Amino acid sequence: EEQSLQKTHQSFEEFLSTLPRQCGWTPLVDCYLYQGCWHHPFFLRGVIAAQQHFEAQPTDIFLCSAPKSGTTWLKALAFAIVTRKKYSDLSSHPLLSTMPHQCIPSLEGDVASKEHADQIAELPFLATHIPYHSLPKSIISCGCKIVYIFRDPKDAFVSMWHFVSRITPKDATYISLEEALELFCEGVSFYGPYWDHVLSFWNARKEAPQRMLFLVYEEMRKEPLPSVKNLADFIGHPFSVEEENEGVLQKIADLCSFEYLSDLDVNKNGKNGPNPAVAIENSAFFRKGKIGDWQSHLTPEMAERLDQVTREKFGGTGLPS
Ligand code: A3P
Repeated sequence: EEQSLQKTHQSFEEFLSTLPRQCGWTPLVDCYLYQGCWHHPFFLRGVIAAQQHFEAQPTDIFLCSAPKSGTTWLKALAFAIVTRKKYSDLSSHPLLSTMPHQCIPSLEGDVASKEHADQIAELPFLATHIPYHSLPKSIISCGCKIVYIFRDPKDAFVSMWHFVSRITPKDATYISLEEALELFCEGVSFYGPYWDHVLSFWNARKEAPQRMLFLVYEEMRKEPLPSVKNLADFIGHPFSVEEENEGVLQKIADLCSFEYLSDLDVNKNGKNGPNPAVAIENSAFFRKGKIGDWQSHLTPEMAERLDQVTREKFGGTGLPS
């Protein structure tokens, strides 16, 4: 197992040179097109390792999303729901001192790169940004559950642009919002095209609706409790009537809220990453958490450019277009 993973890594550079390549969002790294999706090379290595070696179990639960769609929030909620009995005393809750990304590992970022591709920690969760059609075969065939969170493409775009500018070293230039918009609309963004990512899961759900839960960032932000309840039911940890009466649902929603998490020392001052070379400040994952923040950044023309693609791609699918 270990040897074959090693082999994958040795041939990776060579393999990379065979893929279509585009200037990425930062001058520091190009994007590579693999199976219809644009990848950062570091994570692509993990995607391929996962495809080759990861064996999903029917009890695994995958938290899936395109970047900047609410992954951090979903991880916090899933973690808090499943561990709520163990940490009923909130004063010692791990989320107070641990960034949600460190509570639930990423398939291509953590698990595959650490050569433990078939191992999930104590919790049944793994998160991934891999689009449905590129998921390791065993995830599809074993019938395990999948939660997908998505968000208005305009807010996801603005969020990604800010994120990239946050993580780009101060002395390096990064692209303008206008340039980023063009790339995003052409599909060139990390794990993009954004719309195809959403559609890959949306279309797969039609075939097996019982194994997939769709969460909408905007709905959750307006009114978190119904989604927290749905999530708990779906992942097999429903709230009892007593818990509901005691306000446990509300407590979990509050604990995982943007306002609470973004104000914690660990999320203001800590760093995390699959390896120290790509460690990112935790605060980069907590920016504004607002619905419609695009309005502060995009001209009406830019918003229309994005809406046009959304109409083309999502029109008639049942997704908000
Ligand atoms: P903004 O940049 O619009 O603020 P991801 O976790 O997929 O990387 O997405 C990051 C986006 O989710 C950022 O959006 C971030 O602020 C927001 N976010 C992070 N934690 C959140 C939470 N607990 N509740 C709501 N939004 C959250």
